[in-house]
Amino acid sequence: MAKSSFFQTILSSSELPSMATQRLYLFSLTLLSLLYLAKPFVPTNHFLLNCGSHANASLFNRVFVYDSANPSSVSLSADRSVSVTDRNPSPNSPILYRTARVFTADSSYKFIVKKNGTGTHFVRLHFSPFRARNFDLGSAKFNVVANGFLLVRGFSVSNTVLKEYILEIDGEFLEITFSPVSDSGFAFVNAIEVFTAPKDFIIDDGARLVNSNGIENYKNLTSQVLETVHRINVGGLKLTPFNDTLWRTWIPDDGFLAFKTAAKQAVTTHVPNYQTGGASPEIAPANVYMTAQQMNRDNLTLNGIFNVTWDFPVGSFGASYLVRLHFCDIVSPALNQLYFNVYINDYAAYRDLDLSMLTFHVLSSPVYLDFVVDSEDSGVIRVSIGPSDLSTPSRINAILNGAEIMRLVNVKGLHGESKKRNVWILVGLVVGGFVIVCLGVAAVLLIFKCKKKKPKPPRRVESAGWTPLRVFGGSSYSRMSEGTATTSPGPNGSLRIPFVDIQAATNNFDKSLIIGMGGFGMVYKGVLKDNTKVAVKRGVPGSRQGLPEFQTEITVFSKIRHRHLVSLVGYCEEQSEMILVYEYMENGPLKNHLYGLKHPPLSWKQRLEICIGSARGLHYLHTGSAQGNR
Ligand SMILES: *[C@@H]1O[C@H](CO)[C@@H](O)[C@H](O)[C@H]1NC(C)=O
Ligand SMILES: *[C@@H]1O[C@H](CO)[C@@H](O)[C@H](O)[C@H]1NC(C)=O
Repeated sequence: MAKSSFFQTILSSSELPSMATQRLYLFSLTLLSLLYLAKPFVPTNHFLLNCGSHANASLFNRVFVYDSANPSSVSLSADRSVSVTDRNPSPNSPILYRTARVFTADSSYKFIVKKNGTGTHFVRLHFSPFRARNFDLGSAKFNVVANGFLLVRGFSVSNTVLKEYILEIDGEFLEITFSPVSDSGFAFVNAIEVFTAPKDFIIDDGARLVNSNGIENYKNLTSQVLETVHRINVGGLKLTPFNDTLWRTWIPDDGFLAFKTAAKQAVTTHVPNYQTGGASPEIAPANVYMTAQQMNRDNLTLNGIFNVTWDFPVGSFGASYLVRLHFCDIVSPALNQLYFNVYINDYAAYRDLDLSMLTFHVLSSPVYLDFVVDSEDSGVIRVSIGPSDLSTPSRINAILNGAEIMRLVNVKGLHGESKKRNVWILVGLVVGGFVIVCLGVAAVLLIFKCKKKKPKPPRRVESAGWTPLRVFGGSSYSRMSEGTATTSPGPNGSLRIPFVDIQAATNNFDKSLIIGMGGFGMVYKGVLKDNTKVAVKRGVPGSRQGLPEFQTEITVFSKIRHRHLVSLVGYCEEQSEMILVYEYMENGPLKNHLYGLKHPPLSWKQRLEICIGSARGLHYLHTGSAQGNR
């Protein structure tokens, strides 16, 4: 029991086999393909409002309903508002932009969302100033607030501007308030869009925070309001809302390239294979993934090893940005030939990126990666791609297909600990137990195999001895070693937690806080100083039994960052203690949701998603930790 139980108990409270087989991921891939045959995306909530008008108007074939029609789920509270009309419109100005609603005092639109309609939403505000009888819209100055978040302050416009935000609606409505800045001032808006984003468009644990401290996981992204600053179709043409299922506009990258001669366009006519890389047509349309910039190696004035760099002006200082980069290997003739590095603001954001790995070994499958960075004093976000040491000399290249830069508008007030929206994802984490239910007989085989065979990554690491941190030091602990880990820069020594802190967190190992028991010792619920809830697993004090497993676990699990796997928060090895500290799973083990009577039964959809989530987690464990985001 002692030996194998260690690895198993963390994955936890379940009889989760630690490794998957081909069979397992074939299963999940089949499901994924089925899912992608599903209907085109239809937002749960979808409001298109033509403000200050008496008739509907359309833009890119979308009908905006006039606000005075009093659509049932939108209400306007404006004591002092007027509808204004452009009396002298230019012939190519869209009808939608020829009217506006002007507010001379604080006023708001309230959009009532459907019962099951909470979650991430797109909000677009259209401003197109014109001269009306009593108002010159170009001289308006105002603030806009959405559910308490200040979106813009002291805003005024001289040209048509579309402001796009991505935010979470977690209550029954979204209220957008327009407030004139001075008493004599006024606010206006021409049109408003509010619609539900696809599920998991923004996820809490998917982004890497990149700064001078290295790389960390950025948590709680969904509680942020994002403002789109740039949306770029790298190496391609402008894409309009006609070409995008979420009605976005993507612009070419030429104007942002630091050295145009360093880059060379790549274009394919093959439609990308959306099945395995984690992106979907909603994440970015096929046109984005069918073009890229790559290293221009024909250019003999460059010595063959160089970066391709883009500088994206962002203006505001002291803000943080979500940088979402899109990749699809349209340049390699075969798998595993392209390795490159990604830098943001000159920090290594992703080393030795191997797209084949992130796509479950499918060529030209779209992938996206999220990074959170701070703006530099220069007011630009610099993105570079360049060759990795792992490239074979004849295959040196690097690519980028798309880039989006979004400002983090604000940190939402104290929300307590991270609020996870999807019970089932959470549950999916802890677990994997459900895979067993799904796979029935196959799973029995699996367990059998796993018992006999020790997991690969631990074995490899064990031989490296008790030096978890050294493993991360090297930059290319690479595919050379069993094709598992293309390491991203790992955590630093910060994983160590002092024993006293753990005592404090668990009320000195209070028996009433015991939530589980394994071959290795007790598991306690605890709360760290920073209020993070954790599960604390304590080896029997004094006994060094299980030491190699303990060490292996730190090495392996400190590298693991995956939304379907519990992550290691830290460890303590002091006073002959061996303690591991994990993320606490609020909803407990999946088992209880499947068999217990305490919880409402899971729907088949949830069960299916759990299967897929578990399979993804297992696959990740199986193939290495290169893909922290999936
Ligand atoms: C975008 O859509 C327009 C209108 O349907 C079409 O004419 C154009 O070719 C599309 N562009 C691309 C790159 O597909
Ligand atoms: C690419 O850019 C990074 C970050 O600025 C830098 O550290 C690296 O040396 C550059 N690589 C080359 C080949 O110029």
